[in-house]
Amino acid sequence: MKRTLGVCYYPEHWPEDQWADDAARMVATGLTWVRIGEFGWSRMEPTPGTFTWDWLDQAIDVLGNAGLKIILGTPTATPPRWMIDKHPDMLAIDAEGRPRKFGSRRHYDFSHLGYRDECRRIARLMGERYGSNPHIAAWQIDNEYDCHETTLSYSDAARKGFQDWLAQKYQSTDALNRAWGNVFWSMEYDTFDEIDLPNLTVTEPNHPHQLAFRRYSSDQVVTFNKVQADELRKHTDAPLIHNYMGRITAFDHWKVGQDLDIASWDSYPIGFLSDRLEGSSEQKKKFLRQGHPDMQAFHHDLYRAVGKGRLWVMEQQPGPVNWAPYNPAPLPGMARLWAWEAFAHGAETVCYFRWRQAPFAQEQMHAGLLRPDSADAPALAEARQVADEFAELPDVGTTNKAQAALIFDYESAWAWDAQPQGADFEMFRLAFAAYRALRRAGLNIDILPPDTADLSDYKLVLAPGLMNITDELRTALVRFEGIALIGPRTDTKTDELAVKVPLGPDLPSLDVSVAVTESIPPTEAIPLQNGGQFLHWFEHLEGTAEAHEKTTSGHPAIMGNDHLRYLAGWPDEPTFDRIIRDLSKTLNIETHDLPEGLRIRDTDTHRFIFNYAPEALTWSGTTIGPAGVYWEKLP
Ligand code: GAL
Repeated sequence: MKRTLGVCYYPEHWPEDQWADDAARMVATGLTWVRIGEFGWSRMEPTPGTFTWDWLDQAIDVLGNAGLKIILGTPTATPPRWMIDKHPDMLAIDAEGRPRKFGSRRHYDFSHLGYRDECRRIARLMGERYGSNPHIAAWQIDNEYDCHETTLSYSDAARKGFQDWLAQKYQSTDALNRAWGNVFWSMEYDTFDEIDLPNLTVTEPNHPHQLAFRRYSSDQVVTFNKVQADELRKHTDAPLIHNYMGRITAFDHWKVGQDLDIASWDSYPIGFLSDRLEGSSEQKKKFLRQGHPDMQAFHHDLYRAVGKGRLWVMEQQPGPVNWAPYNPAPLPGMARLWAWEAFAHGAETVCYFRWRQAPFAQEQMHAGLLRPDSADAPALAEARQVADEFAELPDVGTTNKAQAALIFDYESAWAWDAQPQGADFEMFRLAFAAYRALRRAGLNIDILPPDTADLSDYKLVLAPGLMNITDELRTALVRFEGIALIGPRTDTKTDELAVKVPLGPDLPSLDVSVAVTESIPPTEAIPLQNGGQFLHWFEHLEGTAEAHEKTTSGHPAIMGNDHLRYLAGWPDEPTFDRIIRDLSKTLNIETHDLPEGLRIRDTDTHRFIFNYAPEALTWSGTTIGPAGVYWEKLP
């Protein structure tokens, strides 16, 4: 498949007489796509019902006539100031009960029906005006759901919406009281309108109450997105896209993805390393200017699946960002490496964020492909290099079916947020640890939703941290002929986050259950007989299944049969590596010993090698410089 590049552009930030020159430079750089519009509401509709489309018409003409394809964004992440006068109660309310005020962005409440109607209206108007414009080749709906932690709002609108949602789901408060165990601490309700949102309680709110609110809030994101998608579809055949983020689990991306055509995400590797990832100071130092070698790959693999096979990077970091605690510049070559890595994982398009660094407002310290004075910034030459390399490698092949898969579930993330039980227990962190172990072994990985009904393409499947196992997945496991490593903390809870009785997991033809659960502080570990250790979490297993590994104190560490095994703890990195390599050996999966910082990814035609390390590395006879990318045709 042919790969393309693009860039994010804000015509409303620059004088109109600069647009043609910008467009010509984009084309000369080898860019195909330009994304515009997603924050432009105050210039589209400066006062309620007054529209000034002429600048946008003109920008679309200029960019389109230069030969660029346009991704047009709906501007609903930035409601203008007048909107707050029209709907004073549309501002989200934080968990402390304080409004999140106007003056930045994303100051809206997903539950507010009046604002939802405003979004439907602007999407309809944009669809009517631009839906059949030949230059508009894709649409982006809103911008980065949950950015700045905006999924949850504790507003009146949310409370009313939540009560209706509960009434529909449970039908009677008796059923709800039973499901939540509200007899405990006399928490029983008589009517649905007595049920408040789970914030500002004296001690922690009941877990199923929290989980229900997380499910409700995620559903609001899904609906908010669908309202605009439905409106746009009436007017356009162009693909609909949302730009997801890194390490965000606040809403169910699998569900939002069902209503869209392509999943895209915004990749800021250096910002993520500094702002959003655990890791030793040694590791953070080593990858300071490159980003974590697995963070981008994880999200490419996740969102490729969310997009039902269609993946884009909508925003790619070009230089220092402005929002992390520290904002170093990338190592020369990284803006190229990140793009090729995305292509190797199936991305069709990579758009850099942004064209020219803005000298004003919140992101004035955020680099672009151009400096604020319009001179080339370092990433521009790297983007051009990638575009030139398309001639050398016109087709990277399609994403190769992986032999290994990881199941990833958002509801489980909410469950463990409500009930971490140990300070380090977080769904993303556990799933990412499992993913990293697979990737350090040099494997291609597919990430799958929790209702996956067929695993027959895979040999090795990991399912860590699933609150419970769906019926579809259970059926797939019954038929599975490879090895599925389930756990830790999988299928030990009901849908309502109660302990399963009889004790879980309830695995097909496997007598194993969790009798006692421990979480352990970072200073402690559970050593294993075969070497290595568990951190953070350990479950005491019982049952008649075979113990494949034991702790030094004789507790089972892995129990199971030829196809299904339960992992009792959270292995540290070397232990996870050993476990994955042992299983791969049993399954005849080829693994690789990669130097630290080197990663590989195969498509059906090519092997790609990426060097995230700050020094040259040699592997399999090939030496690759820092930030280097190497590819070779597979036999
Ligand atoms: C993204 C966002 C962009 C811009 C960028 C800066 O989160 O979608 O609008 O803020 O970050 O890195």
